[in-house]
Amino acid sequence: MTRQPRFVGRHVIVSGGAMGVGAAAVRMFHAEGARVSIIDRAAAEGGTLAAGLNGSRPDNAQFFLADVAQPEDLRGAVEASAAAFGTPDVLFNHAGTLIVKAFHDTTLEEWRSLFDINVHSMFVATQAVLPLMLAAGGGAIVNTSSVSANLATPMEVAYCTTKAACQMLTKAIATEYRDAGLRCNAVAPGFIATGHGLRELDLLRALNVNVTEQDIRAMQGRMCNAEEVAEAVLFLASDAASFVNGETLVVDNTLSVRT
Ligand SMILES: NC(=O)c1ccc[n+]([C@@H]2O[C@H](COP(=O)([O-])OP(=O)(O)OC[C@H]3O[C@@H](n4cnc5c(N)ncnc54)[C@H](O)[C@@H]3O)[C@@H](O)[C@H]2O)c1
Repeated sequence: MTRQPRFVGRHVIVSGGAMGVGAAAVRMFHAEGARVSIIDRAAAEGGTLAAGLNGSRPDNAQFFLADVAQPEDLRGAVEASAAAFGTPDVLFNHAGTLIVKAFHDTTLEEWRSLFDINVHSMFVATQAVLPLMLAAGGGAIVNTSSVSANLATPMEVAYCTTKAACQMLTKAIATEYRDAGLRCNAVAPGFIATGHGLRELDLLRALNVNVTEQDIRAMQGRMCNAEEVAEAVLFLASDAASFVNGETLVVDNTLSVRT
């Protein structure tokens, strides 16, 4: 039996959609019928991705350049995407980065900057879509957290703290807007073979934190693929998850349940 495409006629916004998990989600939402807005600071990758998708189904993908740490730019990108493709049905807040550094060497500026990118961007994008979604009777938001929200790693105090904030933001938004038809969930991946994940491993190894290939195998069997996280995102964004709200779906092949 062939499955019906789940996002026909829907407008999906993906921040951090130019590469990695965001790009995988963009391709999969598009393949399932969505109009997709890619918001990212990587102009070349975002533009190429949108152009490729439009080659297969014209005028259903658009790239919007924004650094998500800049509230005006991000708000402008969300507004432009709504003007292009209509009220967003789905917002995937994925853009994020990390600092790998001893806590005592981390400056307040670096700490603030990481919160700007990983957390405040979710505040801004969510506030920008909310009035539109609520006027339309609801919508679905998926935020990218990490296993690092609950498992502390040395040299990642700032990163772990931002990812924990993403999880509580998810629960609190879900609670406040449930009765208005909004669902807000998160994904918490383990190590993914993306630019972010590979850079994280290099930086941790350079600071003598134990994450050898053998460690990865012991923790989660192998590196996760971007598409495996994107699948979880599409589920949470879809009507199949209609009663899943305020939840964090861990995508880590047992990493966080092992003793
Ligand atoms: N890769 C992992 O191992 C892993 C594990 C858990 C969680 N995550 C989360 O996934 C996200 C990283 O994504 P990925 O793994 O797909 O990596 P990635 O590096 O392939 O993709 C990140 C995307 O976000 C964009 N981006 C980053 N900062 C931005 C900014 N300030 N403004 C606009 N766009 C920006 C990048 O240009 C890129 O397209 C982060 O939120 C991270 O916390 C990653």
